[in-house]
Amino acid sequence: MNKFNCPLCANPLQENTNNSGLSCTNNHQFDRAKQGYFNLLPVQHKKSKQPGDSKEMINARHDFLAGQHYQPLAEKISQLISQQINKHQDDEKSSNNFTMLDIGCGEGYYSRAIKQQLPAIEQYGIDISKPAVVMAAKADKLGHYAVASSDKLPLLDQCIDLVLKVYAPANEQELQRVVTDNGLLLTITPAPRHLWQLREFIYQDVREHDTQDTQFSGFGLIDSQRLSYTVTPDSDHRMALLQMTPFAWRANEQVTANIAGACQLEIELDFIINLYQKNVEQ
Ligand SMILES: C[S@@+](CC[C@H](N)C(=O)[O-])C[C@H]1O[C@@H](n2cnc3c(N)ncnc32)[C@H](O)[C@@H]1O
Ligand SMILES: [Zn+2]
Repeated sequence: MNKFNCPLCANPLQENTNNSGLSCTNNHQFDRAKQGYFNLLPVQHKKSKQPGDSKEMINARHDFLAGQHYQPLAEKISQLISQQINKHQDDEKSSNNFTMLDIGCGEGYYSRAIKQQLPAIEQYGIDISKPAVVMAAKADKLGHYAVASSDKLPLLDQCIDLVLKVYAPANEQELQRVVTDNGLLLTITPAPRHLWQLREFIYQDVREHDTQDTQFSGFGLIDSQRLSYTVTPDSDHRMALLQMTPFAWRANEQVTANIAGACQLEIELDFIINLYQKNVEQ
């Protein structure tokens, strides 16, 4: 049974018998798109016509991620989750029951990478951007994907064992509501030197990222790690990297040309990986 709830009345959503979509007891209906995802973001909850990352940004992210420059990060995340599943099993539950939500999943890179290592995970992904969810669902037929906002998660209470939040927004009340007792929140945020050499092209005075992670009440930090390494993307991947970052709009034509022409540019990737647990004191 899926763990989605109705974005209109919060009742559980059941699969229709012909597998064409989901419906609740109040007969609110949500069709399954041909790529397999559901649109659980009602028009009245939309703040703009096309919320979230644009198709261009999603394509750029997909192109860059396909270059596997973020693979060490994906492996680290999978490793951490695997350790947590082992603990979960020690608590006499099966890994089959371990449910993960990739919040602001984008084109689904991390969910796919995790599932390759840990196929027994039951995986949900939501993003407010329709093009992102289309791409994620197309590439992963076993995951459950929905267009939805992190401010109003279309998920049942206490059904998620781990929320993965990679550079994406989350809402404190909603996290508390959907995560199981003693469930987990894994956040990835930029560490001080993330993309330093790229930022040098754009800013006169490059500053270290502030590493203060958003604190969600009800969740206490149980592990914090930093992962740092360098990559040497080719020109196409440097352009894709620029497009998928918030600095893209700051880069004028000259800056863009300079980045495109900077052969063999080594770029530092620098991440903070924080693991929080629900109901653990800070
Ligand atoms: C920087 S991207 C990260 C995507 C993905 N986690 C990754 O690392 O590849 C942030 C994502 O959050 C999504 N997003 C922004 N606001 C959101 C919201 N309120 N609810 C859900 N997703 C949101 C964007 O559409 C975008 O796909
Ligand atoms: Zn309903």
